[in-house]
Amino acid sequence: MDIKIDVSRSCLVQGDIDRKREKADEALERLWSGKEDFTGWVKLPMEYDKQELESLLAVSDAIGLQCELLIVIGIGGSYLGAKAAIEALPKEPGAPEVKFAGTNLSAAYHAQLLEEMGRKEVCLCVISKSGTTVETAAAFSIFKKELIRTYGEAEARKRIYVITDPEKGALREEVEKEGYISFSVPSDIGGRYSVLTPVGLLPIAAAGADVKAMLDGAAAAALSTDWDFDAKDYAIARYLLLQKGKVIEGIQYFEPRLKSFVSWMKQLYGESEGKNGTGLFPSGLELTTDLHSIGQFLQQGNQVFFETVLNVMEADVDLTIPSGPLAGKTLNQLNKAAVKGVIQAHSGAQIPMVRIDIPKLDAYHLGQLIYFFETTCALTAMLMEVNPFDQPGVEAYKKEMKKEIS
Ligand code: PA5
Repeated sequence: MDIKIDVSRSCLVQGDIDRKREKADEALERLWSGKEDFTGWVKLPMEYDKQELESLLAVSDAIGLQCELLIVIGIGGSYLGAKAAIEALPKEPGAPEVKFAGTNLSAAYHAQLLEEMGRKEVCLCVISKSGTTVETAAAFSIFKKELIRTYGEAEARKRIYVITDPEKGALREEVEKEGYISFSVPSDIGGRYSVLTPVGLLPIAAAGADVKAMLDGAAAAALSTDWDFDAKDYAIARYLLLQKGKVIEGIQYFEPRLKSFVSWMKQLYGESEGKNGTGLFPSGLELTTDLHSIGQFLQQGNQVFFETVLNVMEADVDLTIPSGPLAGKTLNQLNKAAVKGVIQAHSGAQIPMVRIDIPKLDAYHLGQLIYFFETTCALTAMLMEVNPFDQPGVEAYKKEMKKEIS
């Protein structure tokens, strides 16, 4: 794996990390055993259905020819991975723009998107594992009506793509009735671990990204010989820092293209670990922006957090400063100086820190990152002795909301 993890500034004693290694080994073995529920994502990058991927790529090409705007309708694990990858990777010229609906219940947000829909060739991609989520069902109903109004029933049917449970649920029933093109969410993979299934891959491929390279990157991470050291160390460090009262993980990024990736991480970590009164609270910090606001708190405030620094080593664009005291320097030089400055200043203040060096923000390394965080998240949750794959708290909210509606 090319991604490198450095826990040397975690303020932990190496002996404490080493003592937890046996437990982490056991947890990793359980993940790979194939006997645990919802671990279908573990071997997926090596064992995915190649034929299904080819048909998914053919469908994504068709979407590219059909529309200028692809509206992806879904919430939580049914959209965060796709949004993360589409925003992190460089834009592909000529590919449809992808926008998201059903990610909130704001009428203003959806009305604006409807207005935009009137000016462009549009397709819809509806994603829901359960097929019953309120936000998704509401948005699908609104956008489907507009699609039918614009194109008529028969043409609208050809512009709706569905990803849902292979057998059950309201969406699957509608697919059977209307004949929409559909893909399945594998039943042994939960929403927040599903980005490398059709849930993430169809919208990401439609946006023009190289999903085969993402899967190759994930396979390289899965089969990496560094795995035993780096990933386990990060998982163990997260667990030990929580024991020491560091209840917040401030995930820092210096490249705004990673904003939605960090939102994806927040769901992955928060839903997997936050149960039975334990778990780290994942928080995103956009730097250098937040250094000029929350930076004061980080340096001298209540030290209930540790920092995980996502450091992209090689940027794909750069700009030279033409004049003034910084003339001749480039923005990337300054950004690198900011990374170093933060590490120096914060480790000087004894803030525990884990540094993750990412060679480049491309599809291959994004695949590595996704797989790396999925595994470290599951390992940390198992060290915390909670189930990384259920979300009873989310279900509770969904149930209560449905009672209010009916
Ligand atoms: O991770 C999860 O399970 C949740 O965040 C779900 O993805 C989210 O609630 C959406 O559920 P569904 O795909 O069933 O519409």
